[in-house]
Amino acid sequence: MAFPTTVKSRSQCRLVTHDWRGVGHHRSALPRGRRARHCNGPKVPQSLLLPLLLAAPVLLPVAVLLPVPLPAAVAATFSVVSLVEAALKQPPSQFNLARDFKRRYLERFIFSQPRLGAAIKCGARGALTALIWPRFVAPFRWHLRRLVVNIPHLPKSFQGFKILHLTDLHAGMTAANYLQRTLIAAMLEKPDLIAITGDLIDYRPAALSALDGLLPRLQAPAGVWMVFGNHDYHEYSWRHVGARSAHRTIHRRLRAKLQHAGVHVLCNASAAIRRGADSIYLVGLDELWTGRSDAAAAFAGVPPDATAFCLQHNPDAIDDLQAYPWDWMLCGHTHGGQVDLPVVGPLFVPIIHRKYLRGIFELADIRHAKRFALVSTGMGYGLPIRWFVRPESILITLRAGPAAYQWAAE
Ligand SMILES: [Fe+2]
Repeated sequence: MAFPTTVKSRSQCRLVTHDWRGVGHHRSALPRGRRARHCNGPKVPQSLLLPLLLAAPVLLPVAVLLPVPLPAAVAATFSVVSLVEAALKQPPSQFNLARDFKRRYLERFIFSQPRLGAAIKCGARGALTALIWPRFVAPFRWHLRRLVVNIPHLPKSFQGFKILHLTDLHAGMTAANYLQRTLIAAMLEKPDLIAITGDLIDYRPAALSALDGLLPRLQAPAGVWMVFGNHDYHEYSWRHVGARSAHRTIHRRLRAKLQHAGVHVLCNASAAIRRGADSIYLVGLDELWTGRSDAAAAFAGVPPDATAFCLQHNPDAIDDLQAYPWDWMLCGHTHGGQVDLPVVGPLFVPIIHRKYLRGIFELADIRHAKRFALVSTGMGYGLPIRWFVRPESILITLRAGPAAYQWAAE
């Protein structure tokens, strides 16, 4: 039990009490909401704020990119904001994080304060919220898009044939449970064929074990077909400069896993997909950045009048493939820019021809009026952040008719 014994001057606004042990305690004689406004003590303890403000521009982006769970990130966020708030409102001798966290978030979340403190608090909350959304929410807002495609010379047997286009899973970097969830949802559509356009794994050796939970889910009557992306080769990655032999080992193990899972890899090769007497062709080009792409070899076995789907990881190759007979080209690689802010524009554009960032592009055809190239935003991420660019997979349904396409309602 405490008894008031000493009242200090009005300017200090403190009531000193002593408990039964004789230990003195300070507490304000004013209502809580007006306490800080009337105190003459330093409102901003420089010793605490300065290191915090100096470290924030470095620590916050690092913290956002770390693969920590969402609840931990939210707790850390509010703890930091609470710390700043408490530091702004009290002299250092009165600062107590646990007490102030309780007061601010359980008793009075909104309270009056000096303008500077309010501005800093609002800015900190806004910035941290803006970082949490693209790190912990937006990268996982995957959706399945349905595309109906008309092809002039489509064989009758392939009317209604469904191709599931997957790209840029980046297994090992992208959250495994998220990828499994999306694949389960996509497989409910029962595609006839699955086409993967590269970056199945990321640069980490752990990616190979991540595939164990993914590859068995990929099943289609006409098979699973893929081409490699630059991350599948682990080359041209600044993180692994000087570790080429390790890359080759991982790539060999990746090929072995794909073979064991029954996934067909097209490296500058083509394959006929047959239904009765009819057939369409898949043409797969090897990776462009590593210098392995060879279009002449890839199209060598494709009849000029065949219906052909060209699988290519990097859309920079679209213009170079105009002379070859294909109807649709499926690409990935760009992730749609991953972050595409209004006014600012896309932040990550790893291609020369920036026009092929994402979407469907109409091109001239050497055989028919037109043909199309599709650049998907992909499912995963190289860096765990997305904003204004949703991850996607695309279910393509084939129809006979003049070259055209139509997105179906989701
Ligand atoms: Fe990628």
